[in-house]
Amino acid sequence: MARRKKVYEGKAKILYEGPEPGTFVQYFKDDATAFNAQKKDVIDGKGVLNNRLSEFFMKGLAQIGVPTHFIKRINMREQLIRSVEIIPLEVIVRTYAAGTLSERLGLEEGTALPRPIVEFCLKDDALGDPLVSEEHIIAFGWASQQDLDDMIALALRVNDFLSGCMMAVGIRLVDFKIEIGRVWEGEFQRLIVADEISPDSCRLWDVETGQKLDKDVFRRDLGSLTDAYTEVARRLGVMPSNVTHATKPTLIN
Ligand code: TYD
Repeated sequence: MARRKKVYEGKAKILYEGPEPGTFVQYFKDDATAFNAQKKDVIDGKGVLNNRLSEFFMKGLAQIGVPTHFIKRINMREQLIRSVEIIPLEVIVRTYAAGTLSERLGLEEGTALPRPIVEFCLKDDALGDPLVSEEHIIAFGWASQQDLDDMIALALRVNDFLSGCMMAVGIRLVDFKIEIGRVWEGEFQRLIVADEISPDSCRLWDVETGQKLDKDVFRRDLGSLTDAYTEVARRLGVMPSNVTHATKPTLIN
């Protein structure tokens, strides 16, 4: 096979040029990072799990009319996606307090919020992805007021969908992050969900026990990250539990 051109390499994924203009191949690595890449490790099978989980959530979103960049999964670690112009903001939705919100406001982790809250962080590793206000976003031109309204509406729909998916399998969606991209259709632009949706960018707690099934397992050294993500995939019926640990090539659908 001809060597593909690498377009971009991030902490957890690589983007290659796709087979047609306007497409990329998104490759999920096993690398895990936290605290702005100060903590790093390679977690066997994480990329395979996140590829499948992101496919599952993006397909589900498309089915309820939420547009995403996902086109199709190609193999265990790769998916074909639409290329988008990424808006340089991390869009966070929180239903329960945790992480930096708990630290900032002195709220105990797990406190139910009065309503889902949408926050924006500037995508800038050098600055540690600082929290920014809507005023900042408009003033510095990272997005327009219309974009902001559309991003909030999109993020809240994703929240309702993901919360429902998770609650159906006994998991509480505490918070999550998405990235949103612009696509042009003729003269019109619209915003679609991009990047990935996986336990790397969500907080997922078992409803009964409170056990963490997300990247906090890695951030806070709480055990095996692969086991946690495998449990999420198993509950959602996304993949058999042994695929990521296969020692020889395994066919999956
Ligand atoms: P937050 O509590 O603000 O930060 P941290 O994860 O560092 O404690 O994160 C809220 C949610 O958004 C959480 O599920 C992790 C996710 N998130 C990312 O995946 N990447 C990011 O760059 C940020 C800022 C948050």
